Amino acid sequence: MGYRGIFDFRSDTVTRPTEEMRRAMYQAEVGDDVLRDDPTVLRLEELAAEKLGKEAALFVPSGTMGNTIALKVAVGEGNEILLEEKSHIYNFESGNVSRIVGALPRPLPSKRGTVPLEVLRENIHGGDRLHIPPTVALSLENTHNYWGGAVLKPTYLEEVGKFSREMGLHFHMDGARIFNAAVALGIPAGELASHAHSVMFCVSKGLSAPVGSLLVGNRELVERALRVRKFLGGAMRQAGILAAAGIVALTKMVDRLAEDHARARKLALGLSAMDGIEIDPAEVETNIVIFRLRKMEVPVFLENLKKEGILALGFGKSRVRMVLHKDLDDRDVEKALRAISRMMS
Ligand SMILES: Cc1ncc(COP(=O)(O)O)c(C=O)c1O
Repeated sequence: MGYRGIFDFRSDTVTRPTEEMRRAMYQAEVGDDVLRDDPTVLRLEELAAEKLGKEAALFVPSGTMGNTIALKVAVGEGNEILLEEKSHIYNFESGNVSRIVGALPRPLPSKRGTVPLEVLRENIHGGDRLHIPPTVALSLENTHNYWGGAVLKPTYLEEVGKFSREMGLHFHMDGARIFNAAVALGIPAGELASHAHSVMFCVSKGLSAPVGSLLVGNRELVERALRVRKFLGGAMRQAGILAAAGIVALTKMVDRLAEDHARARKLALGLSAMDGIEIDPAEVETNIVIFRLRKMEVPVFLENLKKEGILALGFGKSRVRMVLHKDLDDRDVEKALRAISRMMS
């Protein structure tokens, strides 16, 4: 279906709001969210807390701000947080942990986002050594963007939850795409969130709202988060206009993510049959498809694809990312496969 003749596979963040979202935004009852009396924001926060099985939620402008606020509250200056080495927080949030939180991020290796418990354990530092900041938190990403939308297993999350409680660590989940994980597993998102102390998720990605993310956790965390959101400049006034689309995202757009996952698998299977492309379709669990080019430079590949009206994203020196979302249908996947096949032959 594309949009104005462009088939945009760069990210699920490019999704346009649905008609229903635009209507809800137009009709939204609003107040002043800095004064905490915007009824639509409060309704979205209640809904988010309920869906994720947490006490409270806070609406924030972006996923990056949601993660930053969570870690500012839970980690704090002069402490250490364990992070997966390819995580969005560590790599793509402009150094928020060191610059805003004032903490030491310790990147750890993983198997597609799953950091073994023994690796987490080996890297915990107590507060007994003058040279090393104490480890007070860990963060995992679900689904994992760099690892091609990989889903963290619920049993693993349960173990990490237990481990973090035993060790007295705060467990944060960057769940920007937690609903993709939940849909892929066929379980409620709340089940995945139950093991973490805080979860950030975005309504502005596959769920197609134009703007916004939510930070969920217990009441105390959200109370403290409110202050941090204010000093970061993330408190907005008639934000109900945006929250209205978020409500539609959470109530109407979750189940359809399964369509994106099916199309991602179809794209991966088609690509795996092409000469010059390396991809294991079995690794495509949700809506993100990442493949390696063996014969063509990434910029050349992207430029050729663009001439066909198809956009993708370079992911490092030899890899390309294509993401499925509600503005791309089966025909668009077939069109992309035909174009890539022509280019590779
Ligand atoms: C896994 C993950 N976390 C966090 C973010 C940050 O979200 P935002 O772009 O809204 O700041 C992204 C954005 O792509 C992401 O993929």
